[in-house]
Amino acid sequence: MSATHSDALVFFGATGDLAYKKIFPALQAMVKRGHLNVPVIGVAKAGWNLDQLRARSHDSLEKHGGVDSAAFEKLSSLLRYVDGDYQDPSTFNALRKELGNAHNPAHYLAIPPVLFETVVEQLAKSNCANGARVIIEKPFGHDLASAKELNKVLLGIFDESDIFRIDHYLGKTPVSNMIAFRFANTFAEAFWNRNYIASVQITMAENFGVEDRGAFYDQTGTVRDVVQNHLFQILSNLAMEPPVRTDSESVRDEKVKVLKAIPAIEAKNLVRGQFRGYRDVKGVAKDSQTETFAALQLEINSWRWKGVPFYIRAGKCLPVTSTEVLGRFRKPPTLIPDSVLTANHLRFRISPDVTIAMGLMFLGQGEKLSLETGEMVAARAPRAGDMDAYERLLGAAMEGDATLFAREDYVEEAWRIVDPILKQGIPVHSYAPNTWGPEQAERITPVGGWDNPIVGQDTPSIARQAA
Ligand code: BG6
Repeated sequence: MSATHSDALVFFGATGDLAYKKIFPALQAMVKRGHLNVPVIGVAKAGWNLDQLRARSHDSLEKHGGVDSAAFEKLSSLLRYVDGDYQDPSTFNALRKELGNAHNPAHYLAIPPVLFETVVEQLAKSNCANGARVIIEKPFGHDLASAKELNKVLLGIFDESDIFRIDHYLGKTPVSNMIAFRFANTFAEAFWNRNYIASVQITMAENFGVEDRGAFYDQTGTVRDVVQNHLFQILSNLAMEPPVRTDSESVRDEKVKVLKAIPAIEAKNLVRGQFRGYRDVKGVAKDSQTETFAALQLEINSWRWKGVPFYIRAGKCLPVTSTEVLGRFRKPPTLIPDSVLTANHLRFRISPDVTIAMGLMFLGQGEKLSLETGEMVAARAPRAGDMDAYERLLGAAMEGDATLFAREDYVEEAWRIVDPILKQGIPVHSYAPNTWGPEQAERITPVGGWDNPIVGQDTPSIARQAA
């Protein structure tokens, strides 16, 4: 991997939704921190000029995080714009001209995946791909076969070390924090394995629907949208072995090993749900069989985890918005009746706040000796100035640090695990919005139950009742 810093950032899809919601705020934050000082070239087919792109970026910042006048002025001065069709070679000749002396650009494809192939081929033909990096957004394919095809196209033009596949969950601090917690604390290593842990569950709940993304979502569904990528990344961080070195490939090797140890999910271990009202969303088929909820169980056949069930649950229109992991311990052998004991747990909350909590039992107050359940909690709310995922990832890609990006083999392993269940026509059960999914999901329930994240309350240090 070359350590050259990219000397220009080109972003395709400059007038689109992702740019509006995420990229302009990330670019302003990078400028503010002194991390962006190269030309930023937006490309789109909108019939726009540079002034219109600047106005759009201003508008984006007003809606998403606020305008910082000094940083915005600097960003405006770095902005360039190339308008044109992605099929048309003259668009790419204009881009080459705009790149001027920049010979190591980073090309960020914030565009629908159907256009990836066209754009990378045009980049190669116009001499914009030499010495360049390419950054792409999920979805990386639609299934295993299409992911392999996409990788083939990309690898025909770029080296793997110059391809940066963004899964924005990898840019979130609490997702990396799980690795820090595990490998920076001696005590964690002692229990985080099959000898002490009975089950691990991951919940990604969202209390909103598919909004204006009906057409996209109906072709996608929960497993493709968030399980195969975001939640498998969380799973990999939870289950990986300590890397032998801290370079990007040593870390990514360990993550791939986790996926390699996971057999393809069987149909009996998945329940799919669809919230009532989903079929009325614009762009969604009236008889849609796409899932907006999934609960599944899988196993990791590694030395550390063999025999420990892992559960994943994700859905739209659930009661809260929160992503949380809960590892439940085996119960201790004791004279105290099992029915009185609650299993200890370790809880990582990834959003909306960052929490690490240890669930435990202790003696309550009162005349009679009795046990109570509570948590020791380390938590903090997001702070102003925290790095957003896109800021972190764009900065890392421009530096050529691939640690926080999905590697080719990882992406293909992740598809291998879900590929069969995507193709088996597993029934979709309806559920009422604002509930925890269809009742059939009870079939996929960890011993001790699902832990439903509680949002919007302070969590006192020893208070929250364990499940
Ligand atoms: C996206 C999915 O990748 O992640 C969305 O397409 C989902 O459906 C989103 O809502 C969640 O991201 P975050 O950062 O808000 O948890």
